[in-house]
Amino acid sequence: MNMGAYFGLVCTFLSTISFIEAFEKQSFPIFMPNVQPQKPETYLCTPIRVDPTTKHYIVGFEPNASMDVAHHILMYGCSVPGRNEEVWNCGEMAAARQPGLKSASPCAKGSQVIYAWARDAPALDLPDGVAFEVGGNTAIQYIVLQVHYADVSSFEDGSTDNSGIILHYTETPQPKAAGVFLLGTNGWIPPLQTEYMESACTINEDKVINPFAFRTHTHSLGKIVSGYRVRRDHKGVDQWTLIGKKNPMRPQMFYPVANNITITKGDVLAARCTMVSNRARITKIGATNEDEMCNFYVMYWMEGSSPLNQKYCFTMGPPFYYWSRGKPWLNNIPDKDASSI
Ligand code: CU
Ligand code: CU
Repeated sequence: MNMGAYFGLVCTFLSTISFIEAFEKQSFPIFMPNVQPQKPETYLCTPIRVDPTTKHYIVGFEPNASMDVAHHILMYGCSVPGRNEEVWNCGEMAAARQPGLKSASPCAKGSQVIYAWARDAPALDLPDGVAFEVGGNTAIQYIVLQVHYADVSSFEDGSTDNSGIILHYTETPQPKAAGVFLLGTNGWIPPLQTEYMESACTINEDKVINPFAFRTHTHSLGKIVSGYRVRRDHKGVDQWTLIGKKNPMRPQMFYPVANNITITKGDVLAARCTMVSNRARITKIGATNEDEMCNFYVMYWMEGSSPLNQKYCFTMGPPFYYWSRGKPWLNNIPDKDASSI
């Protein structure tokens, strides 16, 4: 064995040890409290309070769910939860209501999605050194688990459900903070047409973010949702770099980004949903199944501990706003690429 290889081995060994010693991971389960949804398309939420005296660092999410029972699960960080009860109805899409429970959105204030699970999704470990900071003086004082029960036939025999997520966390400060940025639109889709729902916003904070995962969300008319970083070159031509694109009819969880890029002050984040309507009526943006949504989530990490204050980018959508019309003025639009897989 030559000295180089030997040295390399020692180094690897030492850094492994110091990594293990660096922090101890703990687990915290957030499970449904043995609920028994009665109607298909029920969405239930259950909250936990995070310790307001100490910052906690979430470094991973481990699903405890099976696709036979739970259609999908979202985990929200909130400054105030939708309700102060153990369980409430929290369906976005005018979903079925579980009798005897109150209804509210997952968060009353400071809503941000920090994890999504759908069929086949494995555990998600954030990249090394990256954590969602919660509790203490952060904006996330509660974590709310939302479970979508699409099919409730497994409950007919009286059984109950405790689907949920096991949080992996530590109290040891982590060098990089995770954050989520959400792009979306308002507007409507005309009958029997393909329509583009587009959003774009300039990042105006002097920080460098590193996207590592993305998630798309539409209801039933979405064909492709794509997201880009747009950076203007010295000739004034916009260079579009793909963050990710997905057929939103695939499981709506976080997927790895298409390109490892950074985003900084002056860059534009842009997203498009290609919607195809075979309906004879207009479809508006809205919360019910009859309506549509166009959402693109970017999960990122950054050095330090304060993710972007800018968390949302919403435009008026069609027929008022398009990438080619309205601020920020964009050129070199990748029309084809943005609407094809
Ligand atoms: Cu679902
Ligand atoms: Cu929706």
